[in-house]
Amino acid sequence: MRYLTFALAKGRLAKKTLAMFEQMGITCEEAKDPDTRKLIFTNEEHKIRFFLAKASDVPTYVEYGAADIGVVGKDTIMEEGRNLYEVMDLGFGRCRMCVCGPASARELLSKNEIIRVASKYPNIAKNYFSEKKNQTVEIIKLNGSVELAPLVDLSEVIVDIVETGSTLRENGLEVLEEICPLSARVVVNQVSLKMEHERIRKLLNDLNEIIH
Ligand code: PRP
Repeated sequence: MRYLTFALAKGRLAKKTLAMFEQMGITCEEAKDPDTRKLIFTNEEHKIRFFLAKASDVPTYVEYGAADIGVVGKDTIMEEGRNLYEVMDLGFGRCRMCVCGPASARELLSKNEIIRVASKYPNIAKNYFSEKKNQTVEIIKLNGSVELAPLVDLSEVIVDIVETGSTLRENGLEVLEEICPLSARVVVNQVSLKMEHERIRKLLNDLNEIIH
């Protein structure tokens, strides 16, 4: 039996996923060491390997078949636009992708004006404004602390993740439009789903039982 390989977005998503596998009786002792710098963990009994990757790289590993299965946020899946099957919503890491800004920017969104939109997710922002709203915008790519952009006049609005809303509140910004809900998803390589159909289906069924 060959190894079934999982790419996990390192951080909270990976921890949560490994904990779910532990509940299913699939354990990786080495992964429990908080100081470990190892990137690949193997369970010999079930012939399963997990590796930890930067979230935005998980869809790439899965599309190329370096991993059979990935666990990553819907935001990353949408932004990367890779050829994969999204097969399950794991229900954790729930948050929303939103257009945010100062209350005064609300009318700019309804008047169809050319505005600047700062985001860590330029593809999601571009698709939302061109396809859903038919509004021409200038997208400015940032890498973090995106809420700064409207505060220092880099952009009129931002497209970003809102979880509790505290970052917005503490910086005098608000949700102006909701783009979509987000959560952790399971994605599968298209060839793996055919070649390892039974094993993958069984794993997904077991995961499903744990989350429901
Ligand atoms: C994310 C996101 C928001 C914030 C939302 O940033 O980009 O800034 O969390 O969470 P809240 O609604 O609970 O305040 P993250 O902490 O990942 O860091 P970043 O600013 O570097 O993107």
